[in-house]
Amino acid sequence: MIGVLVSGTGTNLQALLDAGLPVIAVASNKRGAPALARAPGIPTQAFELDDYADRSERDAAMADWLQDRGVQIVVLAGYMHLLTAAFLDRFPDSIVNVHPSLLPDFPGAHAVEDQLAAGVTESGATVHLVDLGVDSGPILAQERVSVHEDDTAETLHERIRQIEHELLPRVVGELCAR
Ligand code: GRF
Repeated sequence: MIGVLVSGTGTNLQALLDAGLPVIAVASNKRGAPALARAPGIPTQAFELDDYADRSERDAAMADWLQDRGVQIVVLAGYMHLLTAAFLDRFPDSIVNVHPSLLPDFPGAHAVEDQLAAGVTESGATVHLVDLGVDSGPILAQERVSVHEDDTAETLHERIRQIEHELLPRVVGELCAR
């Protein structure tokens, strides 16, 4: 039973849904995240930081909401906030993130732009377990893509997303089967 956290466009959420994985709840830190509209018929909920005393209180409320629905595995699919221990401790070894670089290289929110600025010739996607750090947990799987000379952040990110949409459902499917 999978819960997905989103902040943005939600193409990775879409890939999980298209793969037929048991996504039973979708939560976001942003009320207006376009990703929330991709899950008709699945309970969705926004947990905006401004509505809570602090990040831990928000994360505890989000964990409560997911666990009340039976979520066992959490997938961060373009979720752009760090999670506190108040959330991580509730789903031990069961939270994964997808990131648009070959970690441990280029962690952070601007990974695609940073790779282009560094002049890399190869990029990729990583799925990893989540810990308290920034994109720093144990790596579960990676796939590579080439970087083209005329790539912009948009074209490179689009090529990375294409492999994310294969990689993420595969790894999450494996986690569900363990
Ligand atoms: C993906 O590239 C993912 O690696 C990163 O955020 C992006 C989310 O894209 N963490 P989408 O919202 O799934 O389209």
